[in-house]
Amino acid sequence: MEMDKLVALCKRRGFLFQSSEIYGGLNGFWDYGPLGVELKRNVKEAWWRDMVTGHDDLSVPAGGPSTFEMTGLDCTIIMHPQVWKCSGHYDLFHDFMVDCRESKRRYRFDQIRGRWAEAKGQRIFVTTAVAASEEQADVERRALKYFNLRAKDADSIAWEGDFQPLPEIDEPSQVLAPDARALDTLTAPREFNLMFKTTVGALGGEEDAAFLRPETAQGIFVNFKNVLDSTRVKIPFGIAQTGKSFRNEITPRNFTFRSREFEQMEIEFFCHPDTSHQWYQYWRDRRMQWYTALGLSNERLQLREHDTDELSHYSTGTADIEYAFPFLPPGEFGELEGIAHRGDFDLRSHMEGKLDEKTNPLQVALGADGKPKWRGSGKDLTYFDDEAWEREKGELGFKSFKEYLKQRKSEPQPGAPFQYVPHVIEPSAGADRATLAFLCEAYTEDEVPDEKGKLQTRTVMRFHPRLAPIKCAVFPLVRKDGLPEVARDLYRTLKAQMPVFYDEKGAVGRRYRRQDEIGTPYCLTVDGQTLEDQTVTLRDRDSLEQCRIPLDDCLAELRQRIG
Ligand code: GAP
Repeated sequence: MEMDKLVALCKRRGFLFQSSEIYGGLNGFWDYGPLGVELKRNVKEAWWRDMVTGHDDLSVPAGGPSTFEMTGLDCTIIMHPQVWKCSGHYDLFHDFMVDCRESKRRYRFDQIRGRWAEAKGQRIFVTTAVAASEEQADVERRALKYFNLRAKDADSIAWEGDFQPLPEIDEPSQVLAPDARALDTLTAPREFNLMFKTTVGALGGEEDAAFLRPETAQGIFVNFKNVLDSTRVKIPFGIAQTGKSFRNEITPRNFTFRSREFEQMEIEFFCHPDTSHQWYQYWRDRRMQWYTALGLSNERLQLREHDTDELSHYSTGTADIEYAFPFLPPGEFGELEGIAHRGDFDLRSHMEGKLDEKTNPLQVALGADGKPKWRGSGKDLTYFDDEAWEREKGELGFKSFKEYLKQRKSEPQPGAPFQYVPHVIEPSAGADRATLAFLCEAYTEDEVPDEKGKLQTRTVMRFHPRLAPIKCAVFPLVRKDGLPEVARDLYRTLKAQMPVFYDEKGAVGRRYRRQDEIGTPYCLTVDGQTLEDQTVTLRDRDSLEQCRIPLDDCLAELRQRIG
């Protein structure tokens, strides 16, 4: 599938527009159009229903060690600045960037790639920052310019090896930057924090500085105690949240894949340390199944376990669910979701002060004065398993937990095993990336016969019916003989229950094509026979099969097919 075709369809049919387009657009920001907003809502609603509201608290799930509970939150985008200091985002959430002294452009260091080229006795590294599919054309064009050659002399340039990322090149003097005419114009890489800064209140001093959240996860950690205290949830349980996140990406690219404003769908799953690895495996597999159940093909999806040397020592696993997006070179995959075993790092950092992830066992990171670099909340974010304590206190010979603690005060964790900091498994997905993957997967061109039996190319978006923006279109075959009246009644009945489109304009074949192009899975056509036997034709977008069903059964039939 060519990405250009999908991008054109998204604009033409109202899935996605560039933000502020009439003013030239703003790089890294995208607006969802009338169909796009429905598609993305369906992705988020499917996630929320499958992960939260539809979750069965009473059954042990396949592959999971026990039953568990799920609940949700909706936290603010701007939070206390200390949240980001203790989470590590203030100090560590950065990318390396380089500036070009000639073009005055800024690039993400690891996203510049290039190839060695030799001509006229000189060997240079020609770089580019364009999409992988256009890289070769771009470096060829720029090498011709640099060596002052005409297109017909392109063969006189000898290309050496494959594309390599710039960080692997240690001869900066031979590098031709992506938009430069001269060599050696890039600065040394520098750190760039990705959080958007803003000001709270009217005074506007540095003490009023705040940040737009770069992830939704921290809102969950800082509300952990509130959820425990306000509900009856017991460990293991998960808290889910969907919402906007913001990252000042140095080089947003690949349609919505890397945006500066995007939506996440995150779960923090709190469990006992002893079962955390089993839960990690459960969530990794369950999240993978979610994408395939909604139509992503196994050939384009992969679950990539991080190597043990990529993991922090406090984590027993991290995996990425990746998709072979069509804008990537063949064989390359882009991240859809990360599932991380985070140990007790986050809750302890918000309790004790930002932990130093390099220490083992984890210690609070200290500043130059030997004091905690970022002070935690000091609030008790441990979990007390009162049921286990009630069960076992008699056998242990204690009357109160206070007494138990007193006896064990010299232990490293005096409250264990009844009181502990839960371990966390974090399945963290992007709503926009998932939507983009569903768009890429759905885009298909096939050949179908027209009314005269001649094969015509059709563009069809094969969305899973749960995700399709419009579930059904209703047509009268012709605009006379009382058919529109029946079709409109049917439309009204269905529209009260689901997104349905009514269309009576043009040949019925053309009406089908228009619906195929936006992924409507079913069309219902009212024709002459409807007036005789009260049945309509139901046409399936993918198989093109047509069958007759009673008018009165349309709603139940659609509900059953959509699932
Ligand atoms: N709390 C963990 C976390 O935020 P992440 O891997 O940085 O982890 C999770 O982000 C997911 O959010 C990614 O897998 C991706 O789907 C989405 N995401 C991250 N940055 C994004 C961006 N710039 N544009 C669109 N989606 C993004």
